[in-house]
Amino acid sequence: MSTLRVSVWRGTGEGRFQEFEVPRLESQTVLDVITYIQRALDSTLAYRFACRVGMCGSCAMTVNGRARWTCRTHVDQVAEDGRLEVAPLNHLPVVRDLVTDMTVFFDKWARARGRFKGAKSRRDGFERVSPDSPARRLADAAIECIGCGVCYSSCEVVAWNPDYLGPAALNRAWTLVNDVRDTDNRARLSAVAGDAGCHACHTHMSCTERCPKQISPTASIAGLKRATMAAAIKGEI
Ligand code: SF4
Ligand code: SF4
Ligand code: FES
Repeated sequence: MSTLRVSVWRGTGEGRFQEFEVPRLESQTVLDVITYIQRALDSTLAYRFACRVGMCGSCAMTVNGRARWTCRTHVDQVAEDGRLEVAPLNHLPVVRDLVTDMTVFFDKWARARGRFKGAKSRRDGFERVSPDSPARRLADAAIECIGCGVCYSSCEVVAWNPDYLGPAALNRAWTLVNDVRDTDNRARLSAVAGDAGCHACHTHMSCTERCPKQISPTASIAGLKRATMAAAIKGEI
């Protein structure tokens, strides 16, 4: 049986890579490899996953230098000369080994006012939103985000400016800007118009290239740039 040589980050921000040899199997994912190491070679290895099918977003790590969902990444796609290097996501504090602290990431969703705010009560009827309306189409294109952090970890501007809200929070804000039921858009546009908001994006596209859900945060951020400019010209923000 052939083997895979795997370097795995151990420790917190201060740490080192540790080498493991893992049996190579057919249709093996990177998450399978990490799970084998934890179950068979070193039970102290910390990592995170839940669904194993690309729904929860909790298994994202840096694999051979690139942020990915490990449960949906086959070893065949990424192994170079029988080697893998697995590290935690970039731009987030490391709790231990492959586990990052996502607090900053989700705090930025809150700063971008990424929560729906409506005006209707349970006694009002359902809002009917046509699937063909332009706003609904724009919201649909961005709404499948599962908050995995792959785009955030891949964004060069987050690396230079840790205060930058980042592609996921801004993408979420854009879905709500296009939600005709939401009543918080003036405050939302103000929240994303500042120095750490949409105008800080340099359109490098790394987020869009790497999002496993084929979402384009770059397009969402471009939409926010237009919407904040229009609101500023009208004196609304
Ligand atoms: S936009 Fe894509 S890469 Fe970014 S958090 Fe959402 S699903 Fe993950
Ligand atoms: S397009 Fe903007 S948000 Fe996306 S990676 Fe580039 S700078 Fe970051
Ligand atoms: S374990 Fe849920 S997305 Fe990978």
